[in-house]
Amino acid sequence: MLELLKRRRSTRLFTDQPVSEEDLDSLLKAALLAPSSMGKRPVECVVVRDRETIARLKTYKKHGTTALESAPLAIVVAADAQKSDVWVEDASIAATFLQVEAEALGLGSNWIQLRRRESDTEPSEVAFRRELGLPDHYGVLCVVAVGHKAEDKKAYTDDDLDFTKIHYETF
Ligand SMILES: Cc1cc2nc3c(=O)[nH]c(=O)nc-3n(C[C@H](O)[C@H](O)[C@H](O)COP(=O)(O)O)c2cc1C
Repeated sequence: MLELLKRRRSTRLFTDQPVSEEDLDSLLKAALLAPSSMGKRPVECVVVRDRETIARLKTYKKHGTTALESAPLAIVVAADAQKSDVWVEDASIAATFLQVEAEALGLGSNWIQLRRRESDTEPSEVAFRRELGLPDHYGVLCVVAVGHKAEDKKAYTDDDLDFTKIHYETF
């Protein structure tokens, strides 16, 4: 697991090769396996593979959407905010599991933040809800862009880890 976590880097450039049905199935299973507070499982994903829709999603956020230019697959991670007061945490774990599974499958991925972000005219969450038909009481955390890597990034090593951030017994 540690080697896999060192290899996982944000991928923002993908090849044209689509993500197979089998890989998509594994990615979604990983998201559904994520733990949630009190086991309420408020997280739901919208799988988007239509290139035109992905291109429109890109316009719903001002910055940090490069990965949606080439990604063949976008998985929007949302949650029923009426089901859980800690849906942000639950959705974050689901998105993280998804990204780790992508790396395990040899795929690249990039978390694109939507919550508390905006387009030129409105909050990104509002635009995503409208485009995808999500109910108003669903929070939209992020969209994870997934695909076959077209860029090669250096894996992390132990030298990249800042152990001054770790405190023992007291801060
Ligand atoms: C909460 C969160 C929000 C992020 N938002 C974006 C984003 O909107 N656009 C983007 O390109 N990357 C985004 N990222 C990816 C980070 O930029 C990236 O993880 C960080 O720079 C470290 O690089 P690495 O993933 O290669 O280790 C986000 C990551 C997290 C965890």
